[in-house]
Amino acid sequence: MKILFLDQSGKPGGAELCLLDIAKPYSDRCLVGLFADGSFKDLLQQNQIPVEVLTTGQIQVRKQSSLAQGLGSLGQLVPLIAKVVQKAHNYDIIYANTQKALVVGALASVFSRRPLIYHLHDILSSEHFSQTNRRIAVTSANRCASLVITNSLASKAAFIAAGGRPEITEVVYNGFDPKIYHSHESEVSQMRQQLGLDGQFVVGHFSRLAPWKGQHILIEALAQCPREVTVILVGDALFGEQDYVQELHNQVTALGLENRVKFLGFRSDIPLLMAACDLVAHTSTSPEPFGRVIVEAMLSARCVVAAKAGGAIELVEHGINGFLVTPGDPQELAQVMTTCLKEKENTAVIANHARATASQRFDVTNINQQIAQLLNKKFVIRNYLNYEL
Ligand code: UDP
Ligand code: GLC
Repeated sequence: MKILFLDQSGKPGGAELCLLDIAKPYSDRCLVGLFADGSFKDLLQQNQIPVEVLTTGQIQVRKQSSLAQGLGSLGQLVPLIAKVVQKAHNYDIIYANTQKALVVGALASVFSRRPLIYHLHDILSSEHFSQTNRRIAVTSANRCASLVITNSLASKAAFIAAGGRPEITEVVYNGFDPKIYHSHESEVSQMRQQLGLDGQFVVGHFSRLAPWKGQHILIEALAQCPREVTVILVGDALFGEQDYVQELHNQVTALGLENRVKFLGFRSDIPLLMAACDLVAHTSTSPEPFGRVIVEAMLSARCVVAAKAGGAIELVEHGINGFLVTPGDPQELAQVMTTCLKEKENTAVIANHARATASQRFDVTNINQQIAQLLNKKFVIRNYLNYEL
């Protein structure tokens, strides 16, 4: 089966990192078409996955765009859709990995008579998307997609609540290679030394810097923790959230935490950095659709404390394989951070249990098999009479 993957982003966010793993088994018979140039293209190339940037003009629709703004971008989309239609003739399936990719992929699937798969990585609620965007996504998926893969039960529930068809929707979690998350002790201590973290209780936050990812909640919590607690913020503003970055720096200065918060920017050595932490914090203030970083912390055998909403609830069992706290509540977060600092043995037991269970549950080989089975299922082509995969 030959697949034309579509993704709007030039940068490697979680949806793109997930796509990278899904595309790997198809590297000899797929193309990833991107709607922007950037480091995600390089990452695909490093992994020998064929990739092409299909447009260089920025598509002017954002998560909160109105109908008028959406319609205004139609002129931009026409040449892109034409290009996708032309490419699609060489592939059996169009696999849209983001919302703009869905809209383009939906129209291209009609013109090229190729089935459309939509991998939904978002919670389609008002907290994340304008009503127009939700309506466009649900209508495109309902009318054109043979299958909607959602990254969690939470994303599935929101899709259905927004009017999505339940009968075409299947949940598949992100897959990971557990081996990548086993770091050598010597490299870990070298990393801690390099970063000036020796003797500290290190709490890591791994996410792009964006208001809904809640780095400010962690900084506020840190101010209430003992002095040996230090925070590393790993990630950068990927989608133009520069004001928030400035706000975080101002917050750190105002609280006098300059020596206890390190901004490391975007990094490609996540497993080693996670291993250099004593605890990983996930602090999203809006429900997280899935939360790759939560699973990555588990696979690294590092205890994770996550905001109790969205996909995180499906990943974390409080007190069993991590901790859950009320989203946006720095006091509760500070309490868990302090407890983990004081009860190191119990924290290690939880972290080791998390690694053992997550290694099974999110193994990329099994996850990729689930996706292959779904793609192969007859119903993918049922709407496309006389079309053979
Ligand atoms: N990540 C990364 N470098 C960074 C920060 C984050 O590679 O500096 C990765 C992180 O390990 C995770 C992904 O980016 O795999 C973020 O995915 P997640 O699902 O947690 O959130 P998203 O940003 O997609 O909403
Ligand atoms: C999106 C979501 C994130 C999820 C990732 C992979 O970026 O925001 O929660 O983990 O996709 O599915």
